Amino acid sequence: MQVTVAESAGFCFGVRRAVERVYRQVEQNRESPERVPIYTYGPIIHNEEVVRDLESNGVRVVETPEELDSLEKGIVIIRSHGVSRHIFERLQEKSLEVVDVTCPFVKKIHRIVEEQSREGRTIVIVGNPSHPEVEGIVGWSHTEPVVIEKIEDFNKNRLTNGIKLCIVAQTTFHYGKFQDLVEKLEKMGYDINVLNTICNATQERQTEARSLAAQSDGMLVVGGKNSSNTQKLFEICKKECDHTYFIQTAADLQPDWFPEDARVGITAGASTPHNIIEEVQTHVRNEL
Ligand code: F3S
Repeated sequence: MQVTVAESAGFCFGVRRAVERVYRQVEQNRESPERVPIYTYGPIIHNEEVVRDLESNGVRVVETPEELDSLEKGIVIIRSHGVSRHIFERLQEKSLEVVDVTCPFVKKIHRIVEEQSREGRTIVIVGNPSHPEVEGIVGWSHTEPVVIEKIEDFNKNRLTNGIKLCIVAQTTFHYGKFQDLVEKLEKMGYDINVLNTICNATQERQTEARSLAAQSDGMLVVGGKNSSNTQKLFEICKKECDHTYFIQTAADLQPDWFPEDARVGITAGASTPHNIIEEVQTHVRNEL
């Protein structure tokens, strides 16, 4: 079997930075005479293995603002997805230490949204409304924002003609779909500021995955089942290669997926640790 691993597979800059920071925090806490509880607001990344490992090191996941309110002391880590202004301020009001590892590219969107909405523009966020990153972005707008995944979502909002819009994207949104939506909105005659905030890491990973899948007989997309960027990679690869499989770890591999002489490509989402990609690669080379 000929196996090729995409160069862009795995942790992006923002995720690596966040995960390393949590582990550093765990180390510092272990060495400190006054140990305090460590929490992450939401799982640090969409990867069960990493979250479990952190749990075994004493890091607890806090899921809701109410849970945050109940905390008395400790360190709360804001993950790379970021949070809304409301949550941010709530955290700062409490006597908790806040470690903010929001990805700088997401921070940039918060700044854009804050500035542009303060100037009176209605913010259009192209992305998944229930994704934590988008929920966070929504919370930085001073005007009522609109979240859309397709043009019908925009039309439902019945915005008055002539209002000024500012369009941003969830960092992991599909570039082609974003462009298509922007073109449709431009034709509607609004005064629009378009800021393409899709992260380069995502674009590069998607482009490389598409071309690798096109040259492969079988394709493996490795990542957490809740990871939306991994799901998107899977959709892109599936279009190019019928034999594309979404797996979480090497344990999901099935022996009858690929013939012996197949060319197999491997890519992975932004929250997939290097060791899991390595395990998959080794398993495919030696045991399938
Ligand atoms: Fe940041 Fe881009 Fe990763 S926005 S978290 S570097 S996908």
